[in-house]
Amino acid sequence: NLPSLFEKYKNYFKIGVAVPYKALTNPVDVEVIKRHFNSITPENEMKPESLQPYEGGFNFSIADEYIDFCKKNNISLRGHTLVWHQQTPSWFFTNPETGEKLTNSEKDKKILLDRLKKHIQTVVGRYKGKVYAWDVVNEAIDENQPDGYRRSDWFNILGPEYIEKAFIWAHEADPNAKLFYNDYSTEDPYKREFIYKLIKNLKAKGVPIHGVGLQCHISLDWPDVSEIEETIKLFSKIPGLEIHFTEIDISIAKNMTEDDDAYTRYLLIEQAKKLKAIFDVLKKYKNVVTSVTFWGLKDDYSWLKGDYPLLFDKDYQPKFAFWSLIDPSVVP
Ligand code: G3I
Repeated sequence: NLPSLFEKYKNYFKIGVAVPYKALTNPVDVEVIKRHFNSITPENEMKPESLQPYEGGFNFSIADEYIDFCKKNNISLRGHTLVWHQQTPSWFFTNPETGEKLTNSEKDKKILLDRLKKHIQTVVGRYKGKVYAWDVVNEAIDENQPDGYRRSDWFNILGPEYIEKAFIWAHEADPNAKLFYNDYSTEDPYKREFIYKLIKNLKAKGVPIHGVGLQCHISLDWPDVSEIEETIKLFSKIPGLEIHFTEIDISIAKNMTEDDDAYTRYLLIEQAKKLKAIFDVLKKYKNVVTSVTFWGLKDDYSWLKGDYPLLFDKDYQPKFAFWSLIDPSVVP
């Protein structure tokens, strides 16, 4: 029996894992989840396309099973995600009468705002007291835009206002849930500055936002661990803001230039060393870093197909990456 990961870090932060629904129905997966993780993120099952595939057609059966599973096993649940430019059905942005794409006319804006409000109130309200943190808005920043706002349907129709509305309505629906802005490539100095300004401005306006989610989909080559620390330092400047690492994985596929077991082993050791270095940083900031989630249980479940980015291999064997967090002396 392996030492428990979440027990090991219980004085620092929660240790989470994103899992697809099939994992909850597989007894071996369930054992690994229960042993090592005290937070779960549904990988796709609480996204808008899953919860409201057509207008008013809410479908909560799978999401409810996650809630039950977490309750039964004393695991916390991170809700992911309420507002995103992906995995959101096109009906959100379609005029119900004409079937055309909504424009930024006042009339169309009202249609979309009403839909946003209803989605958030219904979902967050249903799981009030059962979801400890919500990724309210996901990936709204595009550092290639002069103003930093991604040109999503949300933005094109509503302007930046949709972001604050989402937080306000989520807070109304569950005043005790921690509300997060979540994004990737937050180690990019240019991008993180946009995110920092966004959150600072929301806070200054009194918008209820409690944390920043740093996804941390990284590779051996980028970013440097020092940039992860710089990002934590930057967001720590906002008083009271919590930091969750929400989607950690470390890709090695780009470095697998030769089909050679010894070389792959070397890369897996490098991966473990990088993960250990990251955790050494996170532990230093345990007052602000309160939850750390891996984006997948085992390599063959990862959204990165053909890669080896997680803690366990396809046969549930702990990798060097796992050992680096439990007993680094095991890593060659
Ligand atoms: O459910 C359908 C299934 O019915 C269909 O037969 C199958 C055929 O392709 O597709 C299934 O949907 C897939 C879905 O995952 C569920 O497995 C989609 O194709 C696939 O695109 C989708 O990928 C998800 C991706 O988000 C979508 O952008 C990944 O599983 C999920 O890990 C990934 O997660 C995101 C986070 O939400 C946000 N941050 C980045 C992260 C990684 O991309």
